[in-house]
Amino acid sequence: MLIRVEIGIDAPGIDALLRRTFNGSDEAELVQSLREDGLITLGLVATDDEGQVVGYVAFSPVSVEGEELQWVGLAPLAVDDAWRGQGIGRQLVYDGLDSLNEFGYAAVVALGDPALYGKLGFTPAARYDLHCRWPGAEAAFQIHPLADDALNGVHGRVEYSDHFNRF
Ligand SMILES: CC(C)(COP(=O)(O)OP(=O)(O)OC[C@H]1O[C@@H](n2cnc3c(N)ncnc32)[C@H](O)[C@@H]1OP(=O)(O)O)[C@@H](O)C(=O)NCCC(=O)NCCS
Repeated sequence: MLIRVEIGIDAPGIDALLRRTFNGSDEAELVQSLREDGLITLGLVATDDEGQVVGYVAFSPVSVEGEELQWVGLAPLAVDDAWRGQGIGRQLVYDGLDSLNEFGYAAVVALGDPALYGKLGFTPAARYDLHCRWPGAEAAFQIHPLADDALNGVHGRVEYSDHFNRF
């Protein structure tokens, strides 16, 4: 199993993984449209010995109260059913956070199960008076600062790109 940055030829494998993982086409179409518009800040794949994509994570830009603060949103995260429970999801996220930190990004937000993202070092964003646009998502909206001062004086609404707003 190898974790590396996605390249062009991974697109069909990523697409297939997302369709079977999420039982629908929303996430696959989201990633396609983000990629087409150059909005994947970082995409990492996990591949098996044959080079098949068995895991994927993407990060794309978010703004805070309309400002670009070098923050990104983590979505989607997927590991093939047959490969779960072996730490691949964790490694994808940690490798992503490491690279983003090296590139100088300041914070990563995620929308998902706090039981999962809490284990990956995220904390509820509401604690810092940070919110997303989706009503009722308060507990699910979480943040992982990368820079020490990322959250200093930053409050308000975090916006993903328009591609997310059809959800
Ligand atoms: C969520 C998912 C990516 C986890 O992948 P994985 O490779 O099995 O995860 P890991 O083995 O790295 O697990 C990392 C930690 O998270 C925990 N975890 C994994 N899935 C979890 C879940 N759904 N809820 C809560 N905790 C979870 C694991 O127990 C592990 O914690 P531990 O080390 O304390 O035991 C995978 O189950 C998946 O693709 N699910 C369907 C898609 C999905 O729900 N994506 C997330 C959308 S927000």
